[in-house]
Amino acid sequence: MLHDRLAELATLGATDEGIDRALFTPAERAARERFAAWARSDGLEVEQDRAGNVFARLAALPGAATAGAAPVQCGSHLDTVRNGGAYDGAYGVVGGLEALRTIAASGELPPRPLEVVAWAGEEGSRFPLGCLGSAVYAGLTPYEEAAALIGDDGESFASALRGPSGLLDGVPVRDGFPPPAAYVELHIEQGPVMEREGARLGIVSAIAGQRRFRVTIDGTAGHAGTVPMNGRADALCAASEIVLAVERAALETGDTVATAGHLVVEPNQTNIVPGRVVLRIDLRSVDDGRVEAAERRIRTSAAETAACRGVRAVMETIEVRASVPMETRMRSLVRTACLERDAQAITIASGAGHDAMCVAHVAPAAMIFVPSIGGRSHVGDERTAPADLELGVDALAATLRAAAQAAWPT
Ligand code: GLV
Ligand code: MN
Ligand code: MN
Repeated sequence: MLHDRLAELATLGATDEGIDRALFTPAERAARERFAAWARSDGLEVEQDRAGNVFARLAALPGAATAGAAPVQCGSHLDTVRNGGAYDGAYGVVGGLEALRTIAASGELPPRPLEVVAWAGEEGSRFPLGCLGSAVYAGLTPYEEAAALIGDDGESFASALRGPSGLLDGVPVRDGFPPPAAYVELHIEQGPVMEREGARLGIVSAIAGQRRFRVTIDGTAGHAGTVPMNGRADALCAASEIVLAVERAALETGDTVATAGHLVVEPNQTNIVPGRVVLRIDLRSVDDGRVEAAERRIRTSAAETAACRGVRAVMETIEVRASVPMETRMRSLVRTACLERDAQAITIASGAGHDAMCVAHVAPAAMIFVPSIGGRSHVGDERTAPADLELGVDALAATLRAAAQAAWPT
């Protein structure tokens, strides 16, 4: 079931290079529909909230003292980056269904409800904010702020949500879902460390903090044949210096990664000196102090470049997420589940962002990783060995069972 479902999801939004499933597009909606249908056929109760998050719940053992208490939750996302892979996000969602299916089939229902959530728009690949659905759920992003976000295609979140690829038909909409008692997210590592260390399971220690910026560089457009080289204010030349300064800032700060992965050049014509460039920067470290230090370096370099080249450069912050340590008790349940199944399991920090970063603000949260072959992710050839995918689900099911037995405040 796990592999068939992952393979089926991989057909939704398939391109020549990978998978394209941006939030509230036909392919992404089809993935949510498939999730809801699978969950129902597995006997789970399905609901959605106004942010597009879809919740699938396994009822607790009837009569258990905590049967009506907050659920133990797992989940991840169904959207992808452009030309992304089949496992980033989808694995945690389908793996969550698989874990609940095996728990239900065992006949030993847990004393608390268990829930799998497909969080909306984790990648931030359409609207300029990552972990959108889980940030709204956790109260980190007010709903009105999310609704007003404008996507790269010019459509607002609110309009896309109401449109044909928005909320699912036939799935009850509920607001104000309470926080879970505890949360665990299963995900691929997306880097090379576990493979290198021979680990099949990873116990996540913390998720790196992350900031995103938009830099708008305004120069002067002009005729490429007539404007002398010494009289130009070429926005793309200035942007290029800023891109290199971003790389330098990370290298000089250390234990930090920084990427300028999105550029829009205007008017983007061969025979016109570029007049405007808008570039986006993604900056991360497990050490928030390093993120701040690297940001200062980038801001100083951008200001120097602008002054030197006679352009205007405005750097705006569009997302700030502090580094998030995984909660001690949940992490220890994950550790037990992982070490029982893989003596080589390692403790590892996540450089990638995850919905667990947001849920961690309202509940004890932890994560389980499985290795990525060649460390490849956010590309079409993202792979994990089938046996490792299965082992991860097994560790997730064990963690969910243990967390459902544990005492939590809610
Ligand atoms: C999401 O995968 C991110 O880390 O940006
Ligand atoms: Mn992901
Ligand atoms: Mn991703």
